Amino acid sequence: MAKNSPMQHVCSFCKRLVTIRDQYDMPILDPQTGFAICKNCIGDIYHFIEDHDTHKAASNKKNFAASLGSILKKNKPHKIKEYLDQYIIEQDRAKKVLSVAIYNHYKRMKYGFDHKDDMTIDKSNVIMLGPSGCGKTALLQHLSTLLDIPFAVTDASSLTEAGFVGADVEVAVRNLYYAADKDIERTEHGIIYLDEFDKIARKSGENNSITADPGHEGVQQALLKMLEGSVVEFTARGQRKHPEAPTIKVDTKNILFIVGGAFVGIDQIIAKRLQKSDANIGFGAKVEGENDKPKFDELIHQVTPDDLMKYGIIPEIIGRLPIICTLETLDEDALLRILTEPVNAPVRQYEKLMEMDGVELTFEEDALRAVAKKAIERKTGARSLKGIIEDVMLDVMFDIPKTDEPRRVLITKECVTEGTRPEVETIEEKRSA
Ligand SMILES: Nc1ncnc2c1ncn2[C@@H]1O[C@H](COP(=O)(O)OP(=O)(O)O)[C@@H](O)[C@H]1O
Ligand SMILES: [Mg+2]
Repeated sequence: MAKNSPMQHVCSFCKRLVTIRDQYDMPILDPQTGFAICKNCIGDIYHFIEDHDTHKAASNKKNFAASLGSILKKNKPHKIKEYLDQYIIEQDRAKKVLSVAIYNHYKRMKYGFDHKDDMTIDKSNVIMLGPSGCGKTALLQHLSTLLDIPFAVTDASSLTEAGFVGADVEVAVRNLYYAADKDIERTEHGIIYLDEFDKIARKSGENNSITADPGHEGVQQALLKMLEGSVVEFTARGQRKHPEAPTIKVDTKNILFIVGGAFVGIDQIIAKRLQKSDANIGFGAKVEGENDKPKFDELIHQVTPDDLMKYGIIPEIIGRLPIICTLETLDEDALLRILTEPVNAPVRQYEKLMEMDGVELTFEEDALRAVAKKAIERKTGARSLKGIIEDVMLDVMFDIPKTDEPRRVLITKECVTEGTRPEVETIEEKRSA
């Protein structure tokens, strides 16, 4: 620390007074000239150099274009679906739609790099609709780990119009930029998933009584610009926002957008429309039975752009989301499969955890069915499965590590329905073996 001013320094760059609390606050200081630069300004300079390294950008572009051929070979639609099948139960149609959309996205990119003609292949952004806990977010999260192009999930409900409290829509592109390791070329060809998309619906949609909702409309207008393809500007993460802060520019023209949401209540809009268009079908009677799986699914599969508009999404955005994909409500059998079948299924996870304590864990089929039944009652799809099992397992996981002997634990139906303590049995023969 400099002798003349032990606790404070003025940064020669931003002229701010830097208080030095520990070694990390220490500015770079030239004792000869008295020139100092604070860590914030060092950060800005670092980001600026990184983001404007044109040589690096050019070579990235070449490498990216060259890799597309092998990426295409590796990511045929059936391969993508096979991968998703390992983790996601049912939702076959959604898996197919997404696999094809992604494969076409790669093809479209390759065409753009290979041909300099006027013909362009249109982007096919996707909108996914499905009840809470049916696997929308999970599908996209698994896709993101598979793909060779950057992929970022952003929660649309956290977005606000510039100037409002919350994150600007640019955050979605910024997230992608970081998923692309700050490679602009890759960012510009990535995929953005906007989760909870229904939360930005205009409150003045037919589903709501309030007439004006400028905040959400503003978010939609800002998102529309991104969807239409525009240059989005944002500052680096952790950078102070000030007018002269260096910005990163990303063109969204080639970014694939996938949006998803539960669109609670849209079934009513669909039912109303069907009722109007053909009174003989008699859907009116069916609307009354709310949360009734077959009726809900039957309706949701018939969703049209018009219904989405009535829900409160502006028509221009709907026009930019040509592929509508609906997911199924998961029934008891599907939930049962989710508990055991996926590579990372909850039951498998607990078996592994217990194995580490030398314990053989068994769930009776009836117990799992009881878990699924409980989840159905909670009406949050597969979302509550984990919590229900966790409740059942808590005492076991607390008590088992008290001793080291090998044991066998059996989870019966009563453990789930009555909260009975699971049976624990010591295994003698394992010791001698
Ligand atoms: N079809 C499914 N197959 C396997 N797991 C699922 C499925 N649907 C939901 N899950 C699990 O349930 C939880 C909640 O699902 P999520 O994808 O967040 O639901 P949402 O459709 O509301 O986005 C996740 O942990 C996910 O792994
Ligand atoms: Mg979700």
